[in-house]
Amino acid sequence: MGSELIQIKVASQAGLPGTPRSSSGATGGAASFAAWGLVNERITAKGACGVGRRPGPANVDPPAGTVATAGTLKTFYLETFGCQMNVHDSEKVQGVLMARGMTPVENHHEADLVLYNTCSIREKAAQKVFSRLGVFRKGRSGAPKLIGVLGCVAQQEGERFFERAPQVSLVCGSASYSKLPELLDQLETGKQRVTGLSLLTEECFETEMTRRDNPFRAYLTIIEGCDQRCSFCVVPMTRGPERSRPSDKILAEARRLVDQGYTEIQLLGQIVNAWHDPSPARLGFAELLSRLAEVPGIRRVRFTTSHPRYFTSDIVQAIDANPNLCDQIHLPLQSGSTTVLARMLRGYTREEYLEKIHGIRKARRAISLSTDIIVGFCGETGEDFEQTLSLIKEVEYDQVFSFKYSPRPNTLAEGSRDALAEEEKGRRLTELQELQRQIQVRRNQALLGESFEVLVEGYQARLGQAVGRSTTNRVINFPGRPEDVGRYLTVKVTSAGPNSLVGARAGSADLSF
Ligand code: 5AD
Repeated sequence: MGSELIQIKVASQAGLPGTPRSSSGATGGAASFAAWGLVNERITAKGACGVGRRPGPANVDPPAGTVATAGTLKTFYLETFGCQMNVHDSEKVQGVLMARGMTPVENHHEADLVLYNTCSIREKAAQKVFSRLGVFRKGRSGAPKLIGVLGCVAQQEGERFFERAPQVSLVCGSASYSKLPELLDQLETGKQRVTGLSLLTEECFETEMTRRDNPFRAYLTIIEGCDQRCSFCVVPMTRGPERSRPSDKILAEARRLVDQGYTEIQLLGQIVNAWHDPSPARLGFAELLSRLAEVPGIRRVRFTTSHPRYFTSDIVQAIDANPNLCDQIHLPLQSGSTTVLARMLRGYTREEYLEKIHGIRKARRAISLSTDIIVGFCGETGEDFEQTLSLIKEVEYDQVFSFKYSPRPNTLAEGSRDALAEEEKGRRLTELQELQRQIQVRRNQALLGESFEVLVEGYQARLGQAVGRSTTNRVINFPGRPEDVGRYLTVKVTSAGPNSLVGARAGSADLSF
């Protein structure tokens, strides 16, 4: 899964990552978890669909008068919840809508079509769309002509969505986005309810046009879907089977991005390093990284999210060989206990994970490390949790995204008898976060007096402060000017907190890369 959960609205520049993620949790059911101890296996397209929601008929009649007839749709408002994959999907969806002649608007009051691109990774995230939809109850004035729900909750709920929220006319999962123009045409010509819920696809969502919200970092999807079967995770059921984009398409998009003025690209995939080239070139992931690094004009390449299982030493070698491959790796651990990892069906042990980390630590540049951790997974004992804490102490991550386990529908762990009490999950989460806070303070303090290059991503006029990001993904605030935005500058660290640094300008970085 993507590493940073963010929430953006269309027509804003708020797509800059870095908003803190929240934790969530929900109590489990009563059935036993039959899959304990199974080896992780890659599932086929058929298998993924078998456990997911089946595609339904593309039109289900609503009770009379519950939804409006569309007519011509001229304006849209799109709000996005969830990971960077969702953010980028929304950028592409906006491109599709604009190519059809529609115009984005700043708020839902002005929109003919209101779309929510949803996240269901945890229960709390999934609930957000329902609270948004509450505003548009039947008969209320100011409701848009049409409401559509996209993304993971759409896929998960399928046609049930219409029962829970009769004001909705369109329900479409990410594996069906290429059908969006067709679905909107159907609505415009009088159909009341349309769905795109098939997961049977071998294709990626390719668009002629993408409306990019982040002016500095361009997202570039290289692989969609997920064939893993982590027992806690809903993604294979909501995003469908894994499909990689051919290397020539990826490299062509990277060149186009440079032509558009981007110098930083971020490769995206649920499991980005499971990418394999379907084209005759048959590049490996590390080779793709090196080819991208050679594209003239690209100064920074990031990639997320890597799975430890596919994290091979040639990725570190590629980073060593190419200074413009960023010295930053996000490698989700999930748990420091081999027993829990086996129940999660992660496909690696604590020792194997640590071996990968040691390989990364041997790189020429000090690579910054971040991770995702789930606390309170079913059956996690105090001893298991201690193992997670001890691994965090050993690795000393630069950033940890931590979550209370939240049971998800159709996952193998759903309904396990070994659910932990919410209070216990909360207690463990607080303890882990406090440990990590201390580590971050220490690690950031160690940077005092160091200088590094930042790409300036914003300026706060009220404070006279510019905010930049290092290649290691550290955020640094420093006295700056509005015209610094978009430039590469060298900044010296003058003070450090747990989550960000403060600095002073130390000169301009070389602009002729
Ligand atoms: N409960 C809590 N956290 C989860 N994640 C994925 N599924 C769940 C769940 N059911 C976390 C994992 C993943 C991150 C994006 O979200 O840590 O890496």
